[in-house]
Amino acid sequence: PSIATRLTVNGQEVAFDLDARTTLLDVLREHLDLTGTKKGCDQGQCGACTVHVNGRRVNSCLTLAAMHDGDTVTTIEGLASPSRLHPLQRAFIERDGFQCGYCTPGQIMAAAAMLEEARRGAPSHATADLTAVLSLTDAEISERMSGNICRCAA
Ligand code: FES
Repeated sequence: PSIATRLTVNGQEVAFDLDARTTLLDVLREHLDLTGTKKGCDQGQCGACTVHVNGRRVNSCLTLAAMHDGDTVTTIEGLASPSRLHPLQRAFIERDGFQCGYCTPGQIMAAAAMLEEARRGAPSHATADLTAVLSLTDAEISERMSGNICRCAA
């Protein structure tokens, strides 16, 4: 059966009648042509499909789109402002933070969520995007990024 589903994706409202089994990942890639979100394992194990739903990171291959009626989704295409890259996107470029690049959108979306999580848990003076990471240890960063696999470096 199809289910009417409304989403706000990268600031745009969209509505579909979807097969109830359609994943959020397939809606993004196949219905909205937002192919920056990658399909790696399609089983919740690699993190290539990471997006933000209502500000929280989600493996979009593991969740059905119809479950997100009314939700707000941000993909890698919506992370930057129109005129400049997100600081993490600039950092990945400046620090050569990728090899083939396939996992990079998921890595950046996970890292952005990690920073937001750290900011929420940080003292009130640590509000700038990248200063939030200063409240995390290397071990905490590794743990929080452990759901995102880079096969080049594996
Ligand atoms: Fe979703 Fe791998 S494609 S976790």
